Amino acid sequence: MCIQRKVFVTRRVPQPGIELLEGAGCKVEFWDSDEAIPREELIRGISGAHALFCMLTDTIDGEVLDAAGPNLQVVGTMSVGYEHIDLEACRARDVRVCNTPNVSTDSVAELTVALLLLTARRLLEGVQAVKDGQWGKWKPMWLCGMELPQKTVGILGLGRIGFGVARRLKPFGVKKIVYHDVCRVGYADDIGASFVEFDKLLTESDVICICCNLTPQTKHRFNKSAFKKMKKHAILVNSGRGGVIKHDDLLEALTSGEIAAAGLDVTEPEPLPADHPLVHQPNCIVLPHMGSNTWDSRNSMSETTANNILSVFNDQTAIGLVQ
Ligand code: DGY
Repeated sequence: MCIQRKVFVTRRVPQPGIELLEGAGCKVEFWDSDEAIPREELIRGISGAHALFCMLTDTIDGEVLDAAGPNLQVVGTMSVGYEHIDLEACRARDVRVCNTPNVSTDSVAELTVALLLLTARRLLEGVQAVKDGQWGKWKPMWLCGMELPQKTVGILGLGRIGFGVARRLKPFGVKKIVYHDVCRVGYADDIGASFVEFDKLLTESDVICICCNLTPQTKHRFNKSAFKKMKKHAILVNSGRGGVIKHDDLLEALTSGEIAAAGLDVTEPEPLPADHPLVHQPNCIVLPHMGSNTWDSRNSMSETTANNILSVFNDQTAIGLVQ
């Protein structure tokens, strides 16, 4: 049981997590807004905290950890991604780091498939054409896209989400699923996915879904040279992290016809300004990072973050222990 340990929450979050923390006797303080906490407020709010309950929009570095002081035991992020947390700085101060694996797998995998279909079948262009009064008599070659049967799907990052995407795409009758990751994974056999080198993923795939984290190895992996290797009719979907794609190079690939279309749920930066050329590129769909936007996922993410924090307080192994 935690006796009046202070937990600082950097945003309004779904109630289940807050109820768990309060039920366990924690003193929960939070930044009372739906918007990201300004850095000076974060530094003020974390002072004396035993735990930080944060979001992927908060940069957690040595300065923030020092502002907490010696009580701080754990940084729990309400996200799968933890690239916003300086792991080294946490390790140096003996602060645990936890994330929320598992609970958003279905929502993100589902959205990835939705975005792929939206992009491949040019659905938003269709909606816009109707709104603009451009829907005339049926035409044999108007707004034609790509269907999935007999296509090769490439997945970069066959973790939980990548696997979830592959599993959902299989019933569409795809010919082959290939993946690239830091290593081969045994469960790939369950969906008949084969490991390929990155270049082969690029050259063989009709559709590529980026489902990996942002790491020094994946940063800007999709750049000019990668786009040149892809098929001209290929569709690229990114629900991992924006930084995996070099956006200037993507824009060039989309305008020059090096690839057919892209669907992005994540971008670099976020938010992508409304006047960014990719937002207005007809063969590109940009969503505002909404992969895990379901109440099921968000309630579970809040609950998991709280449980992670309580596990650290109670010297138990947290489900989402990163380090
Ligand atoms: C995560 O959890 O890291 C997602 O990107 C936010 O839903």
